Amino acid sequence: MVKICCIGAGYVGGPTMAMIALKCPKVEVAVVDISVQRINAWNSDSLPIYEPGLYEVVKQCRGINLFFSADVEKHVSEADIIFVSVNTPTKTRGLGAGKAADLTYWESAARMIADVAKSNKIVVEKSTVPVKTAEAIEKILTHNAKGINFQILSNPEFLAEGTAISDLLNPDRVLIGGRETPEGKKAVQALKDVYAQWVPTDRILCTNLWSAELSKLAANAFLAQRISSVNAMSALCEATGADVSQVSHAIGTDSRIGPKFMNASVGFGGSCFQKDILNLVYICECNGLPEVANYWKQVIKVNDYQKTRFVNRVVSSMFNTVSGKKIAILGFAFKKDTGDTRETPAIDVCKGLLGDKARLSIFDPQVPEEQIMRDLSMNKFDWDHPVHLQPTSSNPVQQEVGVVFDAYEATKDAHGICVLTEWDEFRKLDFQKIYNNMQKPAFVFDGRNIMDVEKLREIGFIVYSIGKPLDPWLKDMPAVA
Ligand code: NAD
Ligand code: UDX
Repeated sequence: MVKICCIGAGYVGGPTMAMIALKCPKVEVAVVDISVQRINAWNSDSLPIYEPGLYEVVKQCRGINLFFSADVEKHVSEADIIFVSVNTPTKTRGLGAGKAADLTYWESAARMIADVAKSNKIVVEKSTVPVKTAEAIEKILTHNAKGINFQILSNPEFLAEGTAISDLLNPDRVLIGGRETPEGKKAVQALKDVYAQWVPTDRILCTNLWSAELSKLAANAFLAQRISSVNAMSALCEATGADVSQVSHAIGTDSRIGPKFMNASVGFGGSCFQKDILNLVYICECNGLPEVANYWKQVIKVNDYQKTRFVNRVVSSMFNTVSGKKIAILGFAFKKDTGDTRETPAIDVCKGLLGDKARLSIFDPQVPEEQIMRDLSMNKFDWDHPVHLQPTSSNPVQQEVGVVFDAYEATKDAHGICVLTEWDEFRKLDFQKIYNNMQKPAFVFDGRNIMDVEKLREIGFIVYSIGKPLDPWLKDMPAVA
């Protein structure tokens, strides 16, 4: 029986390994983590991450050929194939701070593998890493090898949160990069055999190591670039009376452009896009390519601009001040169907409104109060460094922020509503009831373009929707930069 061990039981390690266990009953899969709390949650009925369909998959395999354990060394030493799926955050200090990937967690996992390995291993980069990381990891492993042979593969993950299970079940492609030596090719084949249990072989792409590593950063940069492009258009739409949804549709029907990833929004969030683009920018700079670096940097600048623009729109619409006004925040997660708040645009929007002295009442169906409070009091980039994830005792935002468990409660007596996550349940709210219980004039700022604008205007709301023709009220307000 092939034994697989995955180091890192997070958003990637947990679901990907659960899928391998489901589809490969003859493979024993152990997912290990230094966080005992996380492992305990994986072994409970309340998994540490919310992902539609995940619990059903885990329940089918857990205790049979899928195990979650904090005994990292035991499972690593027994495994034939070791996936490393630890976090690779943006560095917060030292060389490359604010851009480069922090490989501390990766390196410590590699050193531990070298320490405990007693037989040959295939080590698979599942984390998103800078190009040439495999070479560094190879050096760490071989210099500490004690005669053991390690083959390094790059097998980046392309799942998106909220749709992880369907993405894993039916991936557009699986990418495997390896050395072009006989041993390297053998290792690639061994991993290919695992995926071939359920992925058609023509969707399993094999490349050299550096192409696989770079393709992951490039894919995220291209996806994020589409969003910044459509968001840049949304600002122009508001200025000209064009409707960004109509423009997206019109250009997306060109089969060379395609319709996906064209929804204008308050900005992209999530743990990957910004981090990976910053990483790409740093790699370009290190390789003497400032023009290329600046090109990709612009994707992030437009994303920041979009969030600032949204906050400015809220403030300017409400008579240029939100001081002391209650604003309801509907949705805090970075997208629907996840409880993940890493780099969610809601953090920057809320901080912007708090900067103008608003009072916030926040509701998200999947994000607990403690997490929201922690997010609002954390510094940029600290979120992915577990050492910083301490609860904040004297939290300065606590007086101005309330987290509630219901959209009606959040909006009661509010002056305005900001929709920051596209949860389906927000479309079904009784907006007449909400309007009746709000201060007047009552505003809706839809950062996800999910509201029925006409219906809301009929009720009496003043509505702002990203990239849509402006409400006559908003046209008279100061211009937004
Ligand atoms: P995560 O923070 O949810 O999980 C990482 C886990 O690794 C944590 O539980 C942490 O405790 C554990 N860990 C860190 N160092 C360890 C060590 N030395 N030994 C054992 N466990 C250790 O992160 P994630 O979202 O799963 O992302 C993991 C990697 O996958 C990142 O490189 C990310 O860029 C990449 N990725 C993420 C996504 C996504 O949607 N989240 C998608 C594709 C790729
Ligand atoms: C992304 C990539 O899609 C995935 O392939 C990779 O493995 C990890 O990073 P994820 O961050 O989980 O996945 O979600 P994604 O669906 O890409 O959304 C990212 C952000 O972009 C979200 O905040 C989402 O709301 C936003 N978005 C997405 C838009 O604003 N408009 C769109 O059209 C699409």
